[in-house]
Amino acid sequence: MTELIINRPDDWHAHLRDGNALVQTCKDMARYFQRVIVMPNLAPPITTVAMAAEYRERILFAMSGLPRQFEPLMILYLTDQTDAAEIRRAAEADFVHGFKLYPAGATTNSEAGVTGTESLYPILAAMEEAGLPLLIHGEVTDADIDIFDREKAFIDRHLAPMTTHFPALRMVLEHITTRDAVQFIRSAPSTMAATITAHHLLFNRNHMLVGGIRPHYYCLPILKRDIHQKALIDAACSGSPRFFLGTDSAPHTTINKENSCGCAGVYTGHAAIEFYAEVFEQHSALNKLEGFSSHFGADFYQLPRNTDCITLRKESWQVDDQLPLGSATLTPLCSGERVQWRVLDENS
Ligand code: DOR
Ligand code: ZN
Repeated sequence: MTELIINRPDDWHAHLRDGNALVQTCKDMARYFQRVIVMPNLAPPITTVAMAAEYRERILFAMSGLPRQFEPLMILYLTDQTDAAEIRRAAEADFVHGFKLYPAGATTNSEAGVTGTESLYPILAAMEEAGLPLLIHGEVTDADIDIFDREKAFIDRHLAPMTTHFPALRMVLEHITTRDAVQFIRSAPSTMAATITAHHLLFNRNHMLVGGIRPHYYCLPILKRDIHQKALIDAACSGSPRFFLGTDSAPHTTINKENSCGCAGVYTGHAAIEFYAEVFEQHSALNKLEGFSSHFGADFYQLPRNTDCITLRKESWQVDDQLPLGSATLTPLCSGERVQWRVLDENS
């Protein structure tokens, strides 16, 4: 197959950052996506509807000169202080689409995240009542749990009890990385779904660690061993509506990644759909790409499917070595390498 036309995709998990970083992040997202779930882990985090409204305006302003725009779907950041009144305000705001649970200390800008899940139960009950989804960074932060086991420990200790207590709360386990997470989602009630990134489909921990440490593959949850990568590929290519696209594209400056304490995040916004297409093609599942990229997420979030289309052509191109990020630069995934698919620009 040399050309593939699919309904326009949505990205159900992305980091756009703020200020002059928005120029690059929004331009990349706008090329493909109709809707983008915007992660709230700014510094300070987006914890209220009022903050989300202002952040949304800044995103729309950054896109005003672009040939096409996406619709930013705003998410609020849960803290130990989030109260039921904020949940009600969020449910009334048509641009807010859920809350994000970051365990405190789990990842970038998560210091203000939650320190326990059981103390959150009254708030989760209010979300269940309001019909707002909960998006979850599923990793424990306990120092005695090995970094490669943190997702499984979160599922066992926190997520399994949450699904029992809140049978009507829609939950998305974000950027899953393990066979355990795939199995959990497959056997969980239909209120549970998961996003999968392109980088967790393309790579495993050998890519990051064999022959030298490659900081541009470092993200959280961390890349796991190949059996987990294979389970993620099977899930994404299975056609199950419980698994859908969330890039977790996360820009950091090259200097902050190539550092003795490099930060977590992989930037895929420049070639998001192309990366996914490569994986689906390698596993003879190109016919499953549209459901994963353009249908299942919308269905889960109870939003209409997109009706317009994008065209992918099998045509190799070279990724730029560096892309601008505000006044600095970032190193995009597969920097300087060739990508096998290209999304055609609307007017070409
Ligand atoms: O690798 C990651 N980067 N994982 C996250 O959970 C956050 C993200 C970021 O904000 O950079
Ligand atoms: Zn993320």
